Amino acid sequence: MFNGKAAKILYGGDYNPEQWPREVWQEDMRLFQLAGVNIATVNVFSWALNQPDENTYSFEWLDETLDLLHASGVQVCMGTSTAAHPAWMATKYPDVLLVESDGRKRKFGRRHNSCPSSPTYRKYAKRMAQQLAERYKDHPAILLWHVNNEYGLRCYCENCEQAFRDWLQQKYGTLDKLNEAWYTRFWGHTFYDWKEIVAPSAQSEHFQINGVETTCFQGISLDYARFTSDQILDCYKLERDAIKAIIPDAVVTTNFQSNGTYKPLDYFKWAKELDVIGLDAYPTSDMPVSYTSMRHDLMRGLKDGDPYLLMESCPSQLNWKPQNALKRPGVNRLWSYQAIARGADSIMYFQLRRSLGAFEKFHGAMIDHAGHEHTRVFRECAELGAELDRLGDTLVGARTEAKVAILFDWENWWAIEYSSGLTVDLKYLNEVQHYYDAFFSQNIQVDLISTDSELSGYDLVVAPVLYMVKEGYASKLDDYVQSGGTFVTTFFSGIVNENDRVTPGGYPGELRKLLGIWVEESDALLTSKTNQLKMSASLGSLEQGSVYDCRILCDLVHSEGAEVLAEYGSDFYKGMPALTKNSYGTGEAWYVASSPEPIFLQKLMGRLCERIGIQPLLKAPDLVEVSSRQKEGKRFLFVLNHNEEPRTIELGDAMQTDLLSGKDVSGKIELAANGVMILESEQRRD
Ligand code: GLA
Ligand code: ZN
Repeated sequence: MFNGKAAKILYGGDYNPEQWPREVWQEDMRLFQLAGVNIATVNVFSWALNQPDENTYSFEWLDETLDLLHASGVQVCMGTSTAAHPAWMATKYPDVLLVESDGRKRKFGRRHNSCPSSPTYRKYAKRMAQQLAERYKDHPAILLWHVNNEYGLRCYCENCEQAFRDWLQQKYGTLDKLNEAWYTRFWGHTFYDWKEIVAPSAQSEHFQINGVETTCFQGISLDYARFTSDQILDCYKLERDAIKAIIPDAVVTTNFQSNGTYKPLDYFKWAKELDVIGLDAYPTSDMPVSYTSMRHDLMRGLKDGDPYLLMESCPSQLNWKPQNALKRPGVNRLWSYQAIARGADSIMYFQLRRSLGAFEKFHGAMIDHAGHEHTRVFRECAELGAELDRLGDTLVGARTEAKVAILFDWENWWAIEYSSGLTVDLKYLNEVQHYYDAFFSQNIQVDLISTDSELSGYDLVVAPVLYMVKEGYASKLDDYVQSGGTFVTTFFSGIVNENDRVTPGGYPGELRKLLGIWVEESDALLTSKTNQLKMSASLGSLEQGSVYDCRILCDLVHSEGAEVLAEYGSDFYKGMPALTKNSYGTGEAWYVASSPEPIFLQKLMGRLCERIGIQPLLKAPDLVEVSSRQKEGKRFLFVLNHNEEPRTIELGDAMQTDLLSGKDVSGKIELAANGVMILESEQRRD
């Protein structure tokens, strides 16, 4: 990934020496060495320092920083500093300031504050990237480039509005096509001139339900979501191209936010423009373990299984939650290996030294305000650093093999949650998570894939709430099932095309033949209400007659050839199909007509895997997470005990080596609370 330069798991993180006097820098180098730090991300928020006015650039502090890090054996992840514009720029060129959905133009302040269409922002961001690339093109410390920081936020200014019109003109060519796509005869929205189109915002189409912004016109809002993701991506590309024009083999990335499920940016689309994926992950102890794992798997999925970089994580407490608990002893190590287990090739922190002032002075860091190495957090970081160092290059570049894929689609996510009706309780991420959990709880490896991904390598493909069926996707699924694949989808699927226009002729639209069903109506349950799925036949551990709760939506299904395996237990649609299986070609297409309780999905997915021959990686107690990576004929099985007590695990007869303890293990073993093992064996061929 790094032109052969990174032979180890990268370990380090954000380093802000510009906040500190020179004598502290020397001390930092000593502490970095003690902790096994081999990478530092610098220059993330120093635009104002680097460019005191329009024509002056001053990088002396950065020259010194890079030289010092290099002399200390620390590689550099080079920020471009464009994630917070300087105050002088905002005063002189107000077009850099973002406009909120309600039309309020922001004043200078905070960060991540620039309009992505601002000519000023684009001009100076590009120039900054050029300046940096020119100055440091031969600097031996630089391993990779980190453009901007946690891109995001939508802007609704006039420049964005005009850029939106241009984007639409590119996409649709004529207003007739646009009017057709957006269904503008509804509420008299027909457009006769491109200038009539305004950004959909709280000033135009948007309003709030339960504090969440939604829309009266799905077509325009969906396109604005696509446009803003693209427009911000353009800003990234502008800097990336500027760097690559000067350093053709530069490795360029940016860091993805919100643990990888940041709604406004279509990270699958972004991934194509990044050399390596960078993730900022801030799990907390109140999040289910599987929540974090799913997002790590998604990051691995963004580039078809390529390892990614954990670019930010916190070694101890956060500062932006209502209450910011300390990470308990051993938890940072455990969660770091959780990332590595699922495909990360780095553990990087925000940040290496805790700031003394402003917003993040209470954000955990490797070096605390005490300023020395004699702290619990530093000791734990140093132990982990030493351990990762001992692992050398063993795991670097290792990949993961999965036979199960879960479809994840940003556009579908936007469309579901912009839809007015059927229920505000339907949250795309939750439904995807439910299916993910069904596999996670049984240690069955899963890939998260996009609508562009090849399906043929998977034996089981699950598409939770496939509301939006993009052009060509139904026939892709058809081919997959025809040729022997097993496909599972759910309620509220096959409803619209990519413009959020209903496919007429009965739900689930283009998927109707494949699934062998017709959904006549869909009932939204009150938040507190449930219906039941009653098994009409036995299916593995789902015994005939057994009953499971279901929530949110209940599709009223008629079979058109599909076998009915469960039916509703109550209400006027009692007895109608709630789980169906359609044999199609040499494969099967399943439909889960409501949102069932976790145990039902666990049993159903377990059964499907069993029939197809997909094995759990290891049978282990609850909250003992298992994931595997492969490299050069070796398999590395990560076993992570997320319980606060030890757990007994049955490893089987074969002797395996735990890379962390160096011990050979087999049979029954006890894994400590927060304990981790990485078991090496010859790769299984199945
Ligand atoms: C984000 C940012 C960092 C820092 C951390 C704190 O991930 O990228 O600059 O603010 O949050 O958690
Ligand atoms: Zn704007």
